Amino acid sequence: MATYFGGKNHLYQAIINLIPRHERFVEAFAGSAAVSRHLARGAAEAILVERDPEQVKWLRRQRELAGHRIVGGDAFEVLARGVREWGPETVVFADPPYPIADRRDARPRYRCELSDGDHRVLIATLRKLKARVLVCGHPWGMYPDAFASWHRHELRTTLRGGGRPGVECIWTNYVDPFPLHDYHYFGADKRHRQDLRRRVARQVMNFAAMDRNHRAAILAELAAQFPAELPRGQA
Ligand SMILES: C[S@@+](CC[C@H](N)C(=O)[O-])C[C@H]1O[C@@H](n2cnc3c(N)ncnc32)[C@H](O)[C@@H]1O
Repeated sequence: MATYFGGKNHLYQAIINLIPRHERFVEAFAGSAAVSRHLARGAAEAILVERDPEQVKWLRRQRELAGHRIVGGDAFEVLARGVREWGPETVVFADPPYPIADRRDARPRYRCELSDGDHRVLIATLRKLKARVLVCGHPWGMYPDAFASWHRHELRTTLRGGGRPGVECIWTNYVDPFPLHDYHYFGADKRHRQDLRRRVARQVMNFAAMDRNHRAAILAELAAQFPAELPRGQA
């Protein structure tokens, strides 16, 4: 598809680097689901919610989303249920349409938009969740005040506002995303990521060349010293 308006194709690496380890991942206003499509490591349960039927059809055709539950419906209903049912094992990523009043250009952009009243309900619901939540918004308008007590991350973007540099905010109801769910894009930028990948590959090569008991001894010691950093179930 052509670039989806408000899609996170230019920011998914930075967003994935804010997502802590989880068992359930919920992308509440899925759109083109840039974040879910790029998560290299799956979750036991992954749910995408999108209200626009055309977009739902598109999501159901994406190979990278096989195994995801794609709910064609209202994120408000799913999130209200989540308030009762989910705890910190669940991560909710919410990238709702921006409030119309907060947009530089007030033309509707989606077949499904939210009113200011909807945004107030959404904000209240997100604040009630016991899940870990990431919510996207402009650094101006309704959201900065609503999430003033949350942790704010500023992501630089060059694609918004007709190519001018801009800032997109993500508020999280947790401070330290540790351990991350997926280290595939770890690093501040492309160069840093390449450098890290090379270093990891070199270490893995060293390990691969070892006698297997030598390797097992090191792995056992690493597991004993750094249990929180091991993927779940392997400590
Ligand atoms: C900013 S876009 C999401 C972009 C997405 N993060 C991506 O990477 O493409 C917001 C999406 O929310 C959808 N939407 C609007 N109201 C909704 C609702 N009540 N429930 C579920 N989805 C809704 C819109 O159709 C639109 O696709």
